[in-house]
Amino acid sequence: MKVLVATEKPFAAVAVDGIRKVVEEAGYELELLEKYTSRGELLDAVATADGLIIRSDVVDQEVLDAAKNLKVVVRAGAGYDNVDLAAATAHGVCVQNTPGQNSNAVAELVFGMTVMAVRNMFNGTSGSELKDKSLGIHAFGQVGRNVARIAKGFGMEVSALDPYCPDDAMEAAGVKPVHSVEELYGGNKFVSLHIPATAETRGSIGYDLLMLMPKGGVLINTARKEVMDEAGLAKALEARPDLKYVADVKPDNAAELSEKFGDRVFFTPKKMGAQTAEANINAGIAAARQVVEFLRDGVARYQVNK
Ligand code: 3PG
Repeated sequence: MKVLVATEKPFAAVAVDGIRKVVEEAGYELELLEKYTSRGELLDAVATADGLIIRSDVVDQEVLDAAKNLKVVVRAGAGYDNVDLAAATAHGVCVQNTPGQNSNAVAELVFGMTVMAVRNMFNGTSGSELKDKSLGIHAFGQVGRNVARIAKGFGMEVSALDPYCPDDAMEAAGVKPVHSVEELYGGNKFVSLHIPATAETRGSIGYDLLMLMPKGGVLINTARKEVMDEAGLAKALEARPDLKYVADVKPDNAAELSEKFGDRVFFTPKKMGAQTAEANINAGIAAARQVVEFLRDGVARYQVNK
């Protein structure tokens, strides 16, 4: 049986070595398709794969149609909005993610970008500090929890909004639960986004919420660009010269925002929250183990499709 690792944005070499070891020790063959530049390369490579490991690589109907032997796809990471779950189910393919494996890496980047924002993108002018400032965490999942832990080290006051997380779980982490977006955005100078991109969340963060933020508000987005209403973001930055937006997920209107708002916005050139050796090792090896467990034992550890 063959396991394909298809990563347009490759894992660190050390992670690939670990994946290879897990796959080959199980007696399976590993094929690597890294930095591919055309869809055709992916369609050719999946044709003979029994298992597939991906990152943000798109697995849609066309890929699934081409993958005649495919039984399992593991997204080495958290968000699986890049996989057409209904099409996978229709093709009898199990889809899994590797929750928690790259969350510390993303959380550390939140603070890398937040410090950069309050120090005026390191442009040499006088900035401000994070200590005693309020941080609202929008969704208290694995990344949100790591963000809270690090925020405590900075001496921040931390709140979180997450209808799927009980209040006592937040309180146990020293985090104040809030119960509406208005309360979260209105009550926190810093808001860090950790909601997934779903039908409900797409385009949900825009003008109205940003305008609620206290003076000097900073929105940090290491989640997905799709959750932003980009026109609303531009309008709020225009109306409120005190606001800043820093994102690991370059918006479609990045050029316009950078031109108009200069040092009040920052975007990484490529999504890099999970782009560390440690996160690659954790998520990549977890994915390899999950693929092997599925192909060999029929165990679906973190299935996300029905
Ligand atoms: C995730 O959902 O796990 C992160 O966004 C990381 O995505 P990446 O593997 O494409 O860097």
